[in-house]
Amino acid sequence: MKVERPKKPDIGSWTEQYPHLGTADVDYTDSVCPEFYERERDAIFRKAWIHVGRVEELPRVGSYFTKEYKVCDTSIIVARGQDKKIRAFHNICSHRGNKLVWEEFPNDETRGTTRVFQCKYHSWQYNLDGTLKQATREEEFFNFDRCRYGLAEISCDVWEGFIFINLDPTPEQTLKEFLGEMGEGLIDYPFHEMTQAYCFRAHIKSNWKVFADSFAEAYHTPYMHGKMSPEMAEDMVMADGIAFKMMGMHNTTSFRHVPSDIEQATPIEQLTQCGLYGPWKKPDLGGNLTPPGQNLSNHPDWGIDSHQIFPNFAIIIWERGWYHTWQFWPLNVDEHIFECRQYFVPPKNASERLAQEMATITTREYAAQDANTLEATHSMLKARIKTHLPLCDQELALRNLHYHVNEWVNGRRPGAVAAE
Ligand code: FES
Ligand SMILES: [Fe+2]
Repeated sequence: MKVERPKKPDIGSWTEQYPHLGTADVDYTDSVCPEFYERERDAIFRKAWIHVGRVEELPRVGSYFTKEYKVCDTSIIVARGQDKKIRAFHNICSHRGNKLVWEEFPNDETRGTTRVFQCKYHSWQYNLDGTLKQATREEEFFNFDRCRYGLAEISCDVWEGFIFINLDPTPEQTLKEFLGEMGEGLIDYPFHEMTQAYCFRAHIKSNWKVFADSFAEAYHTPYMHGKMSPEMAEDMVMADGIAFKMMGMHNTTSFRHVPSDIEQATPIEQLTQCGLYGPWKKPDLGGNLTPPGQNLSNHPDWGIDSHQIFPNFAIIIWERGWYHTWQFWPLNVDEHIFECRQYFVPPKNASERLAQEMATITTREYAAQDANTLEATHSMLKARIKTHLPLCDQELALRNLHYHVNEWVNGRRPGAVAAE
């Protein structure tokens, strides 16, 4: 089946709708330069709102999880307090600086439910709101004022069930302001009904942006993933973005549903009733299934929206009634942890569960193909033989990401002028 080439705007290309981004080759030194990475750590990862999890991970009073945030050399506790409020803290004991919450291995993330956080070193205890409950042998300290030794709290807020933190003690923008039009466009989407979560992670030897780039365009799909998607390999525009919208540093791209995945299904896809686009049977979902930020061009064959939230998070919503997220956690200029979470309506029976498992395996296989190639890409970008690279119209979202990363690194982030 031959599909139509995506319709462009009436005037110019998608990229030319955003003249500030230009059309020149993009400088990829930002992905290989250690000094640039050092600047990103302070200018972006200590200033931006960063997604750390979902509210369903903290179902009751005392639920908590930890998040390793290596890019800023810290670990974070996110917990639900007695007042049901979700708070975040640096995971450090106020006594001698021990990491407060961990299980077998200090570098592993953990989760659970507790009444108090108790340090493994000298047993100081903290309440769920971060206040110091008890210092052991308090009378042996000097002029001890318990109020001074609570946990270091981190700004924390929630949007549509997604928990975000901000290491800036006085963030320049609220989370609502930071998400802006992107956040408004997805209000009331039924994320909260898709609580069956699957997660995988991989340690990737590439700069975080190099990997983010790959998930921000489908230009590569017929070539890199052609064996998995023969219909795309046959018709190279099938996977293309059909509508693009840059909303400051965030952006959305819409893609069509490749129509033939049921007819051309492999035996395992037929058996599990699930293909590339997810389980064939759509769940019953309430809420607003067509928020204004979705299916930007109201395309009848719409299949996927990729919502990229600056700097390191993306929500990919599938027409079949599920969504997944990508997140890129920098470790250093050359490495990051890639995290994928997939969310479905809880399965009602074994065959629905199998279909979901098939969807997770399919996504993982695609991501593995990307990872392999991107480690190769990064290894050669490091040679700096080619520094300025051409990006086509389908690669607009990458251009936007690199532009805004540079803006932030150079102090031109939204809210910065008002705050400084
Ligand atoms: S370091 Fe935590 S109680 Fe001493
Ligand atoms: Fe890919």
